Amino acid sequence: MSYNILVTGGAGYLGSILVPELLAAGHKVTVLDNFMFKQNSLAHCCSNPNFSVVKGDCRNDTLMKSLIVGADVVIPLAALVGAPLCSLDPIGATSTNLDSPLALFKMLSKEQRVLMPITNSGYGIGEKGKFCTEESPLRPVSLYGIHKVEVEKALLERGNAISFRLATVFGMAPRMRIDLLVNDFTYRAVTDRAVVLFEPHFKRNYIHVRDVTRAFMHGMDNFDSMKDQAYNVGLSDANLSKWELAEVIQKHLPKFVFVEAPIGEDPDKRDYIVSNEKIERTGFKPAFSLDAGIQDLIKGYTMIKNSIYGNV
Ligand SMILES: NC(=O)c1ccc[n+]([C@@H]2O[C@H](COP(=O)([O-])OP(=O)(O)OC[C@H]3O[C@@H](n4cnc5c(N)ncnc54)[C@H](O)[C@@H]3O)[C@@H](O)[C@H]2O)c1
Repeated sequence: MSYNILVTGGAGYLGSILVPELLAAGHKVTVLDNFMFKQNSLAHCCSNPNFSVVKGDCRNDTLMKSLIVGADVVIPLAALVGAPLCSLDPIGATSTNLDSPLALFKMLSKEQRVLMPITNSGYGIGEKGKFCTEESPLRPVSLYGIHKVEVEKALLERGNAISFRLATVFGMAPRMRIDLLVNDFTYRAVTDRAVVLFEPHFKRNYIHVRDVTRAFMHGMDNFDSMKDQAYNVGLSDANLSKWELAEVIQKHLPKFVFVEAPIGEDPDKRDYIVSNEKIERTGFKPAFSLDAGIQDLIKGYTMIKNSIYGNV
């Protein structure tokens, strides 16, 4: 079955892997993005006649109303992503991450399907040592986390939707994000050979960016049985502390040195282990391990470096 799919923020980290896969599966895809990072992450899609792209702002209701016409599926990815960026621009964060998706849900017809990623960062304030399931309370601390949880509530109340509560995403993508934990540590291991860890025994769950795409495709293929629910999406064999993650990276880069010091605090106090059983019971199984992702990253970092202000 081929769909007309609108992806907002489709030129971002998740979208730059998802959009080419949606096109490869035969769907017609329209991307709306403001290209705030000057990214050309979808350049390789332009020759595909099923691909359309609009430069614009997801907060522009008139524009959004025109773009949703004829869309069978909407995947809202446009956001100011991450707690640090949202605390730098709380007004932009509120209009983009909260007001805009809430307005979108109101303008869509009941028949239009929505698949949306939500952070699971609010699980951090749960019970120590207990696996977080979709029934565990979400009590986010940061503005970013608070907005995401509020949007998920509205999404599931609207219905005809699936919410994916993503673990910390890792792996190479055309629009790269080296601010994500695995991507960041591996980048430092490759370029500096060292990292200082704070809250090193705080545990998290992880998922490859290509498995996020696979989860969305799985959701589209099994929409009727999965709809109106939230699903944790992570690697069940990777509920690892930052220290354990650094040890995994060190297996691939033996010269990597890491030490602990109280140099920071997680704005969402994330320290949790997550059960991904619910989505696994629907038949979804991740295909990319943490080790495979670290190997991808090591190859990718051979190609890219943050070196605007240096000659090497
Ligand atoms: N990467 C993760 O670990 C993760 C985890 C959970 C949820 N998410 C969610 O997935 C979505 C995508 O995240 P990402 O990691 O790809 O981040 P990203 O920053 O790479 O992508 C966001 C995209 O939105 C675009 N954008 C920002 N403001 C816009 C606006 N006003 N109008 C139009 N486009 C705009 C940006 O140009 C960018 O292409 C976000 O909603 C994020 O909260 C990501």
